[in-house]
Amino acid sequence: MSSRTKRARRAQLAVPATTDKLLAKAAQNPADHVFLDLEDAVAPTAKKQAREQVIRALNELEWDNKVRCVRINDLSNPNCYQDIVEIVSRAGANLDTIMVPKVKVAADIHFVVTLLEQVEKQSQLNRKIGIEVIIEDVDAVHNAFEIARSSERVEALIFGAGDFAASMGIDMRAAERPGQADELWYFARYQMVMAARSVGIDAIDSPILDVRDVDAYTADARRGLAMGFTGKWAIHPLQVAPAMEVFTPAREKVEFARRVVSAYAEAEAKGIGSILFEGQMLDAAVVRNHRLLVEHAQRMGL
Ligand code: GLV
Ligand code: MG
Repeated sequence: MSSRTKRARRAQLAVPATTDKLLAKAAQNPADHVFLDLEDAVAPTAKKQAREQVIRALNELEWDNKVRCVRINDLSNPNCYQDIVEIVSRAGANLDTIMVPKVKVAADIHFVVTLLEQVEKQSQLNRKIGIEVIIEDVDAVHNAFEIARSSERVEALIFGAGDFAASMGIDMRAAERPGQADELWYFARYQMVMAARSVGIDAIDSPILDVRDVDAYTADARRGLAMGFTGKWAIHPLQVAPAMEVFTPAREKVEFARRVVSAYAEAEAKGIGSILFEGQMLDAAVVRNHRLLVEHAQRMGL
């Protein structure tokens, strides 16, 4: 299957690149992924200054083992190429991925890849910057499989409910009513998770806007986990702990999965394809799921 780079992204913390103080606070946050936002959290007149702040923050702050990501401006905006050129050439050594918003088609990713290749070469950067794609446009949902396959650099698809609502003409207030998000986002979320899973990359879910309602966030995260998502956006530090908790596989589940994988390998070596193990019937399909869990847990250092 895929040789895509795997990283931990249970909680992706959104950090508006507006003040140095916010950026410094984010570096201390326990989320395993942070994205410094140059797009929708930054006013058009502040884009240039925000870019400079991001470059400083990447180069000067200590981010521990976090995935360091920058959300660049979208492709319809000249800030997009400037973000890529400036950030990768001046802070590429301290950057893991870029997040590309409002993608519509696979060719959008081809453009980003070409630019990355040139900037990395010109800057003699000996690492490849990964790409995370926000699926938040009706066209993107339609083209999700092609977008996922567009480049080996694509490591994650992220569902962007806010822009998706706008793209569909859906009132976000309706979606925030209890139970409504499940129905309104069901198709888009499911299609996106399938596209991500088809190439073995991460599927990251949207947050909820009411940041004080941690119970609602946690319930939404659990539904996402059940659907195959591997992480969730946190738009406030209050949302980080529940995302980290929900998307960390339980120790007993991981241990059981490890036992299953080794018992099944032994059975297979003897030419047996299905076994009764600790009360459960296991065949190759069931074991495949356990194997994925073992790999996933390894990535989180469990
Ligand atoms: C995220 O970018 C969203 O639009 O929800
Ligand atoms: Mg958006």
